[in-house]
Amino acid sequence: MDKIVSVAIDGPAAAGKSTVAKKVAKALGFTYIDTGAMYRAFTYAVISKGLDPQSELLSNSLIGQVNIELLDDGTVLCNGEDVTRQIREPLVSGNVSYIASYKEIRLALVEMQRAMAHSKSVVMDGRDIGTYVLPNAEVKIYQMASVETRAVRRYEENIAKGIPTSLEDVMEDVRKRDYIDSHRAFAPLKPAADSVLLDTSHMSVDEAVENVLRIVKEKTGVEGKC
Ligand code: DC
Repeated sequence: MDKIVSVAIDGPAAAGKSTVAKKVAKALGFTYIDTGAMYRAFTYAVISKGLDPQSELLSNSLIGQVNIELLDDGTVLCNGEDVTRQIREPLVSGNVSYIASYKEIRLALVEMQRAMAHSKSVVMDGRDIGTYVLPNAEVKIYQMASVETRAVRRYEENIAKGIPTSLEDVMEDVRKRDYIDSHRAFAPLKPAADSVLLDTSHMSVDEAVENVLRIVKEKTGVEGKC
């Protein structure tokens, strides 16, 4: 059996991690794991039960009752329900940072993430993959871009998906999430000491993918086919 390789891609909201990570995974023949989608699905579960996501106690009460599945085609299931679209809507986006700051919920989701990376090669994107979830990942990338670039990208993504938002609201949401994600007490967003910084502010998606594949080749010898 080929050696199991983990590629961790961390960085702030809307830095284009998932777009790049998906393409890198495809080129390498690895499984792509979107950990942000897991925090989003948990947030959806809290809201749809009528609980307040700003209450840690109430949100924690769902631990063990939320079954999240990430299908290979990108579909996200939450207790069997297809929530792929709902988890990108403003109600979830505006509350997910609260859920992601609760330690007990993080521990439950991290356990699932580690199990996923245990048996197969993965490209996993998130905020704490290189620092906490997979500290021994062979490749660690910290992908970033300016707030303005990220807000415009997320805004255009929303428009393309038919999700109505304004650029100002998206910018505000990105700033707010940057702050909460990097200031939380447990496993905050920060580059791992051994990560490679990749600033994609002036890069196309293909250029970012090529850069990541080059780093993967340098670190592991594994070559991707675009
Ligand atoms: O990448 P995203 O925007 O879908 O992430 C949604 C939220 O989940 C974001 O506010 C940060 C949080 N998150 C996290 O804390 N840890 C991860 N590994 C992934 C996402």
